[in-house]
Formats: sequence, structure tokens, C-alpha cells
Amino acid sequence: MPTAPFDWIEAQARQRRAAGLVRTLRPRAHDARRLDLAGNDYLGLARHPEVTAAAGAAARLWGAGSTGSRLVTGTTELHTRLEHELAAFCGATAALVFSSGYAANLAAVTSLAPHGSLIVSDADNHASLIDGCRLARGTTRVVPHADPAAVRKALAGHGGPALVVCDSVFSVDGDAMPLAALADACRAAGAGLLVDDAHGLGVLGDGGRGGPWSAGLAGADDTVTVVTLSKALGSQGGAVLGPARVIDHLVNTARTFFFDTGLAPAAAGAALAALRLLEREPDRPERTRAAALALHERLTAAGLTARRPAAAVVSVHAPSPEAAVRWAADCRAAGVEVGCFRPPSVPDGVSRLRLAARADLTEHDLERAVETVVRTAPR
Ligand SMILES: Cc1ncc(COP(=O)(O)O)c(C=O)c1O
Repeated sequence: MPTAPFDWIEAQARQRRAAGLVRTLRPRAHDARRLDLAGNDYLGLARHPEVTAAAGAAARLWGAGSTGSRLVTGTTELHTRLEHELAAFCGATAALVFSSGYAANLAAVTSLAPHGSLIVSDADNHASLIDGCRLARGTTRVVPHADPAAVRKALAGHGGPALVVCDSVFSVDGDAMPLAALADACRAAGAGLLVDDAHGLGVLGDGGRGGPWSAGLAGADDTVTVVTLSKALGSQGGAVLGPARVIDHLVNTARTFFFDTGLAPAAAGAALAALRLLEREPDRPERTRAAALALHERLTAAGLTARRPAAAVVSVHAPSPEAAVRWAADCRAAGVEVGCFRPPSVPDGVSRLRLAARADLTEHDLERAVETVVRTAPR
């Protein structure tokens, strides 16, 4: 007898339940007493009055949606202004805004790795880079994590175009890629370097100019950077920054650019306002980094295992996926929201709580966060 079309889904769901890996949606409450260390609002700008006012003003002027693909009606003057100011801030020649960082990564990898090319990808890269590699026409080699020598070896002997792709700050463990050494390895082989600076923009580099800036790669003609507007800038969207010829190439070849509706004007307006705020208040990134280091120091002093953060993300080891879920739920019940990473979101199968520091955390917030995470830790 034929089975019903989606019966196999139940078998998969059973396996997920048995492994403690079921995921569910929990609508976020609008609750000022809740301490949010789960989101990625690193500079505390998502609810900043200037940023939300800019979103409202942009929607009123340009409409709730951008109405079309960037190449048709989806490019407003706001998008162009955002691209100019973002590129200038990060020291890049040009920028191209996408509807998400995910779409920007897919665009950059697929457009810069043609048929016959080699892509060298770090083992802990973000899913959007991995998916970009899967969609690209080039051949991908995955190399051990944060290992420029392994990249050098992978590139050796390859004759055609080559692209090395990596995160600047890794989203799960919060550690950093040694970008300067990686760029040396790329240059020795004539390979392009694509850096996903989703967790670096607004947190690393002078005034938050990002990971490539702090590694001396800003404006380099062999380096392309992807940023998201949805973390430190508190908005939504993504962008690719790089040499003008790379950006022109993306405009003409990137499928997630031309088959996708342009970023909503409200998101573009909010990101632009956040960027201007960051330029006016360059101490915000330093405050975020200091809060992350304080969280790490206090949690490890209390006996928890956590990696020293390179930027805003503090990653705390949990003994199992089930324990991580319970731990996060206990924190939530105590009014502290933390992230919970389990397989397959973690590269090594080790589940973690993920705490994101913010520039606007007070000493009281830090004390409350540490007290809650330590008190609810699995014994
Ligand atoms: C490292 C990294 N790259 C890219 C993205 C995707 O960015 P966006 O959320 O804007 O699609 C994320 C978001 O989670 C990320 O952590």
C-alpha cells in the first residue's frame, strides 16, 4: 500500500524528539523587565528613538515595502545613500544592499566563485556561507577552523580563480579569525578573500568599523566584506562591500539581488540612522566589548566553561542539548533571555548557551545575568 506523502516527516520528528533537538517558536514578549542577552542588538540601537523614528519616516515617505527588485523599483535614494555611507564608514570603495545578510552571502559566494574555481571554506562558517558554497559553481574544500596554514595548503597548486570564505567573528563560539594571516595566505596564492563581518561591524575596529578594518584590509582590492544590518545596526538587511568592479559584477550576476524584492525603506532608513549614531557615538563598540569580557570573566570565575569573546558573543558550554534547553528555560523563567545553540547549529556537537553583550547593559544587568546563569547551571 502506498504511504501518505509526508509520512517520513513523523519519523524525522521522532528522531529529533529522542535527541532533544525539537525547535519551537516563542513569540517575544514586550516586557521591559526582561533582560535580553539572546538577541544581536549589540549596540542597543534597535529601539533607539532616532532609529525607530527614521524607520517610520522612511515608511511614510517611500512606502511600507520597496515595491520591487532593486533593478526595477526597489532602489530608493535611501538605499543609495546607505550604500555610500556604509562603504565610507568601513573604508570600502563601494557597497550593495540586500534584503538580508543571508542573501548578501549567497550573492557574494555564488557570484565570485564561477565554474572551475576553488572555494576554501572554514569549518565553522555560518550557514549562509555554507549555503553559498553549495549553490556556487566552484568546488568547495572545507578546512580546519581558523587555520591560515590549512588555507595556504588548500590553495596550493590550484590554477584557476580561488575564493577563501570565512566569518570574522564566529557566531556560535564568538572567537575571531586571524584575518591578517589569512589575507597573507590568500595573497600568496592570488586568491580573493570574502569575510562575513556580521558580528564584527559595530563591535570591532576603530569606532566599530569592523573586522577587516581592524586587520588592515579595509579598501583592499582583493578583499570583499559582507555585513548585516540586523545585528549592531539594529535594523534588517545586509550588504556586500568591496572594489567597484566586484559590486558592478554582483549587480549583473547575483540572483539574490535581482530575483528578490529590495530592502524595505523602513529598514534602510533605520540602518542609516543607526550608522550615523554610531559615527557620533564611537564609544558604543568599546562598551559592548567590555560588557562581553566582564560576562566572560565572571562566568568563568564561577566555574563555568566559556570561551574568551573576541567581540560581543559569549558562548558557555552545556553538558547536553537537553540540559542546554532546560538551562535557557530556567534563565527565561528568571527574566533573563539567553540563546541556546544545539546541533546542527553547533559545529562540534557541543551544546551551548549564547549570551550577547550590548553597549547599553548596566552593572546591575551584568550582575543579574551572571547570578541567573550561574544559579540555574546544570549540576
Ligand atoms: C555570521 C552570520 N552571517 C550572516 C548572517 C545572516 O544575516 P541576516 O540575519 O541579516 O540574514 C548571520 C545571522 O545570523 C550570521 O550570524
